[in-house]
Amino acid sequence: MAAKVKSSSKSRTSWFTQDRFGMFIHWGLYSMPARHEWIRNYERISNEEYQKYFDRFNPDLYEPKEWARMAKNAGMKYFVITAKHHEGFCLWDSKYTDYKAAKTPCGKDLLKPMIDAFRAEGLKVGLYYSLIDWHHPDFPIDKHHPQRDDKAFREREKNRDVRKYAAYMRNQVTELLTKFGKIDILWFDFSYPGEDGKGHKDWESEKLLKLIRKLQPDIMLDNRLDIPGSGDFETPEQFQPCEGLKDKDGNPIVWEACQTLSGSWGYNRDEMTFRENDELIMTLIDSVSKGGNLLLNVGPTARGEFDYRAQDRLSAIGEWMRRHNRAIYGCTQAPAEFKCPPGCKLTYNPATKRIYLHILAWPYKHITMEGKAYVDQVEYAQFLHDGSEIAMKGLEPWQEGQNHKLGGESTLSITLPQMKPKVSVPVVELFLKKNK
Ligand code: GLC
Repeated sequence: MAAKVKSSSKSRTSWFTQDRFGMFIHWGLYSMPARHEWIRNYERISNEEYQKYFDRFNPDLYEPKEWARMAKNAGMKYFVITAKHHEGFCLWDSKYTDYKAAKTPCGKDLLKPMIDAFRAEGLKVGLYYSLIDWHHPDFPIDKHHPQRDDKAFREREKNRDVRKYAAYMRNQVTELLTKFGKIDILWFDFSYPGEDGKGHKDWESEKLLKLIRKLQPDIMLDNRLDIPGSGDFETPEQFQPCEGLKDKDGNPIVWEACQTLSGSWGYNRDEMTFRENDELIMTLIDSVSKGGNLLLNVGPTARGEFDYRAQDRLSAIGEWMRRHNRAIYGCTQAPAEFKCPPGCKLTYNPATKRIYLHILAWPYKHITMEGKAYVDQVEYAQFLHDGSEIAMKGLEPWQEGQNHKLGGESTLSITLPQMKPKVSVPVVELFLKKNK
C-alpha cells in the first residue's frame, strides 16, 4: 500500500519511505544549562543573561565520526541536525551572524564535519532550521518570546521589522543549501499563526519555498511553513498516530513521527524518564506498521558526546536492528486482508511479499491469524532472528483442537516455542506465495 502523493513529491520521498528510521540531533547552547531546549522561554531568560553560555561553549570531546557510527549501528539511515534552534545559535559559520559556534571558544564550524561524517557512513542528510529566533534583533516579540512579559522591553522593541528577519532566513537557508552539497531534508520548525503568533506571512514562506525548490529541487520539506500542501511529509511529534495518516480523500500520506528518548530534545542532565529499549523498538515497529517513519532524537552534551543513556538505547536498538532490519527497511502497513492478531504488529514488504509478525506480548504456544488471506497465501514461516522454521497449520472453520473447537473462520495457526527468544521483540517472517 504505497503512499499516494503528488508525483514530484513522490519521487522526492521514495528513498525516505524505504529507509524508515532516522536520528534527530538537538544540539546548541542549551546543552549547557542542560534543562531543556526551551529554557529561555520557560525561564524568561534575556539575551544578556544567556550570553554566559555562548562565552563558554566549547565541546572539546566532539567526534562527529563517533556520532555517525553510533547512528549507523543503530540502523538509522538518515539524520536531521538542528543547524539553528529557537535560541538562534548557529552551528555553521554563517556570514550573516556572529551568533555561531565559530565565535565561541570552540572557534569552528561544527556542522560541516558532522555532515561529512554522516555522509561517509552512508546516511542521508537533513537540516533542521528554526523559524523562531529568540536572539535575532529583527524578530518581533511574540507569545513564545522569552521576554514576552517584560512590558518595557516589548514597548522598546515594538518596531522590529519581521521583513528583515525573513530576508535573514532566506540568506541563511541559501547558505545551508549551497555550501554543504546535496541536502536530503529541510526541517523547518514551526508556525503558530494567530494572535501574538507567527505564520507564513511573517516568514514569507512562499518566497522561501520558491528559493528552496530552485536551489535543491529534490530536497524533502516538512509541513511546518504554514502553507497547506507545501510539505512532502507530516510530522506528528511526541505521539504515535493510532493509524496511518491519510489525506482528505482517504489516501495514505508520507509521515514521520519524531520522538524523544525521554522528554526534552536538548540534553537534559536531570531528566530520568528515559524510555526502555523495548519500548523504543516497539515505537519504530509501530510507525512502520502504520506506513510511517521514526525520527528518534538524541541531545548531545555540552562536551560534545552522546550521554550514557542515549548510547545505551542506541546500542540496544542496533542489536535488534542487526537481525530484524528486514522487517523495517522497505516495509509498510500490511494489506487490510491480513488482520493483525492481538498482541502483535504487522509490517509488510511489498517487493519481497513478506509479512512480518512482530510479537509484542509472548503468547501461550500459538498465534492464530484469522482470515482466508493467511491460509491461502502464506507458504513458509520462520523466526527472523535465527532463521529457524516455525510450524504452521491452516485450520478450517470449527476444526477440532485438542479437546476444543478452534476458530469461527479459516485461520492459520503457528506454533511457537515455550520460551520467548532472547531478543527484544521476536519477529516471524511469513513468506507469501509470489503469484498471488
Ligand atoms: C517542537 C519544539 C522543539 C523541537 C521540535 C521537534 O516544536 O519547539 O523544541 O525542536 O518540536 O519536533
